[in-house]
Amino acid sequence: MNIAKESGWLHKFHLLYGASGQVFRAPGRVNLIGEHTDYNDGLVMPAAIEFYTWIAVAPRDDRRLVIHSTNFPDSIEVDLQADEPSPRSHWTDYVVGVAVMLGRAGHRLRGANLLVHGEVPIGAGLSSSAAIEVAAGLALLGVSGLAMQRADLAKLCQRAENEFVGARCGIMDQFISCCGRAEHAVLLDCRSLDYRLLLLPDEVCLVICNTMVKHELASSEYNARRAECEEGVRRLSRVLPHVRALRDVSSNDLERYAASLPETIYRRCRHVVTENERVTDAARSLERGDLPAFGKLMYDSHLSLRDDYQVSCAELDLMVDLARGLAGVFGARMTGGGFGGCTINLVRTQAVPEFQRDMASAYEKATGLAPQIITTAAAEGAGEVQK
Ligand code: GLA
Repeated sequence: MNIAKESGWLHKFHLLYGASGQVFRAPGRVNLIGEHTDYNDGLVMPAAIEFYTWIAVAPRDDRRLVIHSTNFPDSIEVDLQADEPSPRSHWTDYVVGVAVMLGRAGHRLRGANLLVHGEVPIGAGLSSSAAIEVAAGLALLGVSGLAMQRADLAKLCQRAENEFVGARCGIMDQFISCCGRAEHAVLLDCRSLDYRLLLLPDEVCLVICNTMVKHELASSEYNARRAECEEGVRRLSRVLPHVRALRDVSSNDLERYAASLPETIYRRCRHVVTENERVTDAARSLERGDLPAFGKLMYDSHLSLRDDYQVSCAELDLMVDLARGLAGVFGARMTGGGFGGCTINLVRTQAVPEFQRDMASAYEKATGLAPQIITTAAAEGAGEVQK
């Protein structure tokens, strides 16, 4: 891994702590297909992106954690020797939460000086939170001479986000940040955590278009959707006793018992059930090199998220519609939780410059907002950076 472009911020580590440290990094992610399926024990297909959260770390002689960032002015100190710290609704919760969960899991951490440098856009739905959690996990373990299996670290970071930060996310983001593979998307079964690597062909690029909006209701609606899915499971399991999660419901079953569900719950369930089927089909399409079929499934996924799951917004819909009209685009859809954030576009490599230009001007013309457009290859998951 190349440290050259990071040396600027590492200089700050020297200034703050008067020493050099080990450096770890963890990537953000984009999800190609399989949205709002992870917390239903279902299937997802994310890829890690070439945008990272970096953490430099050096041991201390006491058991304090001192945490600074290059992105935020305020820092924090916590004493691992004292009572378990509580969340403060502060960016450091992501780091402290991981330290707390490592402690609860029986890992005795050393005191450490940390500096966080984040380059994953915040609030864009590209999992800057999973990236900081996973980087923190590796840094805290590394400085203490400890190690953990990747999938276990992903689960621990998810627990930090659920129980300490207070966001009810699924496992997808932390898992892909830990286990991503360069040039590959990952087909992940969120129940067993079994996964399969899917090679992304050279002829296409992942192009991420940021709507530059994030609507207020994102987190309350996320929790509402989770509750609606649980309600669906409760009702369906009365007639289908094997059903533990929507993952266990087939389209046929859902249609057979549709009448036992209120309309909204039925539509939420239909999104999850059909989305799982789309992920399976998408994996097959990719394996046989059928990019048009894969792209069609992306568009279908977007419509299902828009109409049945109702987590899209005007800006995301506009971006997907614009993508449909541009040359070299196989497919496009919203990615992440929704209500703003980004679309993911599968674009023929030679067509990318034209796509970027035309998307930016058409979106800006319609909304007055200049979108951030990122082209990325699928990246390797988190690790230590050799200087
Ligand atoms: C957010 C969550 C993920 C997942 C997606 C929707 O990104 O963090 O766990 O639920 O929304 O697919």
